[in-house]
Amino acid sequence: MSLILAPIQGMTIAHYRNLYAEYFGGIDTYYAPFIATRESSKISASLFKDLLPEFNNTNLNVIPQLIGNNSSDFRSFATTLVTMGYKEINWNIGCPYPMITKKKKGSGILPYPDMIKSFLDDICIDNNYALTVKMRLGLNLLDEGIAAIRILNDYPLNGVIIHGRVGTQKYEGTVNLDSFELLNDLSKHEVIYNGDIFTLADYTKIAARFPAINKFMLGRGALRDPFLPSAIKGNPVPTHLKISKMKAFHDAVYAHYKSILSGDRHLIDRMKEFWVYNSVHIDPVGKYTREIKKCHTHAAYEQIVSQMLDSSNTWKE
Ligand SMILES: Cc1cc2nc3c(=O)[nH]c(=O)nc-3n(C[C@H](O)[C@H](O)[C@H](O)COP(=O)(O)O)c2cc1C
Repeated sequence: MSLILAPIQGMTIAHYRNLYAEYFGGIDTYYAPFIATRESSKISASLFKDLLPEFNNTNLNVIPQLIGNNSSDFRSFATTLVTMGYKEINWNIGCPYPMITKKKKGSGILPYPDMIKSFLDDICIDNNYALTVKMRLGLNLLDEGIAAIRILNDYPLNGVIIHGRVGTQKYEGTVNLDSFELLNDLSKHEVIYNGDIFTLADYTKIAARFPAINKFMLGRGALRDPFLPSAIKGNPVPTHLKISKMKAFHDAVYAHYKSILSGDRHLIDRMKEFWVYNSVHIDPVGKYTREIKKCHTHAAYEQIVSQMLDSSNTWKE
């Protein structure tokens, strides 16, 4: 069984991935957040910064992800990624944000199977990299996902990651395991499960229901509880060690952002995002997190975090 860290825009950037691997482990493959394709004349090196080999991307198993519906733009971006050494590229047809979907990108392409077909016709004639796809059950309804899976079946893909929600759900409600099962059964490609694995019990339940599935992608669950992947792998970290490990991880993430961001505002905004996920098992009632949301200076921030991660505090399983 293999575990994949889902791409989470703004969070799972190169330094985060590296520190996650160093402090927690349990993850076999890291998907980088999407890069939006554009005309080749507008490609700049900064778009690929997160994937530069010097950020350790070649030691970890990192898969880049592209989002877009223009095959010629996708080809140019893919050429750059292959030149950088990447052997697999993931096509995002799952993003639910209206800014993306209204342009028929992300899950917005799912109601248009002919567009998916002509895109893949152009991409799959001579791609010198493995192509995988990350999708949802549909944009609005399952029928869209069914039509998309039937098209994907006709191309030489290396796997399809399915997040068991429709795009219009965004992250609301729950995953629909019956609909996931239907697409899983229809797919000729290897299917990777994604969605709502927050606890070991969630994983056990899903793995038992889909015994043929071998790869599981974890997003929010792995960020909220970074000890979860190693627990799933059978190497649980004792509860009494978790706060001190989280402190070391936080300090390393914070030191990185402090070194690259100028001004307290940007730094604290980044760390507020960090705590959206990481406070769940440390500060479930939100006592410290509310203070972090209100703070403006790095000195105030550091003081609140040090109280929150004091050794007398406990990790709430
Ligand atoms: C803030 C945020 C940013 C995300 N960014 C991406 C992204 O760049 N690419 C992508 O394929 N999915 C992205 N996702 C979706 C996740 O990768 C994942 O599919 C989704 O969260 C469901 O898995 P989970 O329930 O394990 O979190 C994002 C999700 C969130 C909440």
